[in-house]
Amino acid sequence: MLVRCGPLVARLAVAALLVLASGCAWDGPMSTVVRGSDFNRAILRVYTIITWATGIIGLVVFVVLGYILMRFRRPPDTRLPAQIRGNTLLELGWTIMPAIVLLVIAIPTIQIIFRTQTQGAPAGALRVTVRAWQWWWEFRYPDLDVVTANELHLPVGRSVVLELEGPDVIHSFWVPHLGGKRDVVPGRHNRIVLTPETPGLHWGQCAEFCGASHANMGMRVLVQPAAEFDAWVAGQKATPPEPTGAAADGQAIFAKSACVGCHTIAGVSAGVLAPNLTHFGGRSTLAAGMWPNTPDNVAAWVRDPQRLKPGVKMPDLGLTEEQAKAVAAYLTGLK
Ligand code: CUA
Repeated sequence: MLVRCGPLVARLAVAALLVLASGCAWDGPMSTVVRGSDFNRAILRVYTIITWATGIIGLVVFVVLGYILMRFRRPPDTRLPAQIRGNTLLELGWTIMPAIVLLVIAIPTIQIIFRTQTQGAPAGALRVTVRAWQWWWEFRYPDLDVVTANELHLPVGRSVVLELEGPDVIHSFWVPHLGGKRDVVPGRHNRIVLTPETPGLHWGQCAEFCGASHANMGMRVLVQPAAEFDAWVAGQKATPPEPTGAAADGQAIFAKSACVGCHTIAGVSAGVLAPNLTHFGGRSTLAAGMWPNTPDNVAAWVRDPQRLKPGVKMPDLGLTEEQAKAVAAYLTGLK
């Protein structure tokens, strides 16, 4: 039976491997091997050293092993060969060689650990306070007087200091293209200093289990040329245009609903427990990267947030379909 199963199991294993491998992409949105910042380049330097070191050692071991297996195969009807106990040279060799290998790996690793844990920030670095909430990200730019959520804008080539704050439970900030993950711990001051080097969209994700919607706690990082970033900052500081039509009805509904207790919209409300919505319409996604930010999705969200994101802190507001559409028109118009 085993003999008959063997080839089938092997074929299934190869098929499973192919299916799994088809999900691999060198430059995928969550790939750790994209050199998007100095931080990630430093980590990848260590990866490269370890990969080459272990690859070469593995190759040597398997070649020698293969040779020994073939060369010293016991022919039939031979007596047991001479039995040897101990060999000082060999034993010294297999003690010293691994020690050298460990040293080759340890020196750059320790260097990179110290460099990426640096507390000092280069002059002129952009400061961003990252606040991780169940289950969304708040980004505050204290020097620019800008507050946004779930989509972090950074200028390319300028150092940034991310000050990580946890107002509720432990989370972990992770944007694979930009570097390693770092925990966001209530009562602890963790920070990441990095310089984004590749313009474009980089995906991030909370990497520490933090409750029901941990898996739905994504973020987007937009690394932009300096001029584009400055234009975005100017847009964030500007007051959105007064709503008209359905959007004006939506604003009225927003202003007299529970929304105002948690959300800030400049000039309308000043809540601090939920994402700042002053320029919500300018964001590409909804609910921490879960859904495209379209009027239909926003209407569905305000009608029944629990259905779209399990555990979400936002209550059911009891809005009618029409009211939800008006609120969605208002919010998506806040560019
Ligand atoms: Cu926040 Cu997991």
